[in-house]
Amino acid sequence: MSGNPGIRIGQGWDVHRIVSGRPLILGGVTVPSEFGLEGHSDADVLAHAITDAILGALSLGDIGMHFPDTDPRWKGADSLTFLDHVCGLAEQAGYRIVNVDSTVILERPKLKDFRLPIRESLARTMSIDVTSVSVKFKTAEKVGPVGEGKSAESQAVVLLVKSLF
Ligand code: C5P
Ligand code: MG
Repeated sequence: MSGNPGIRIGQGWDVHRIVSGRPLILGGVTVPSEFGLEGHSDADVLAHAITDAILGALSLGDIGMHFPDTDPRWKGADSLTFLDHVCGLAEQAGYRIVNVDSTVILERPKLKDFRLPIRESLARTMSIDVTSVSVKFKTAEKVGPVGEGKSAESQAVVLLVKSLF
């Protein structure tokens, strides 16, 4: 990539419907819950937002372009494989991840007790230190589709820097 000082910022956002009879998987961690998220893959809304943030930083399109939800190969897929793949694209482009900051917006269950395992799971997948991965949780204060318990959202930003190696 030319014409940049060696740092790239990326942003990602995702939403999934809440349904019964599916697991709630966030950052590769299955959180005990009476409901889960609907999706073609494992519907890991947090992994999807971070994956899109990395693709955004690289100007390489979006998750649906790389992993179409019409492709039977990705049915029930572990979304950490998507995240792992885009980290490989960053490496190929000569970048390393400096840090990730993210937010999951979900009315319930309470997620704060799962913060560390989720951060560790994401950090392991991205091959970066856990201190470089921030995961925040918010309710939507009972307002809108998230607040009414119909969906879960996630947002993420990522900073990449040109690798010296
Ligand atoms: O949305 P609100 O500001 O009320 O959230 C307060 C705190 O509750 C958050 O900072 C977060 O630590 C926690 N939280 C949580 N699980 C959620 C939503 C919020 O643990 N699903
Ligand atoms: Mg998604």
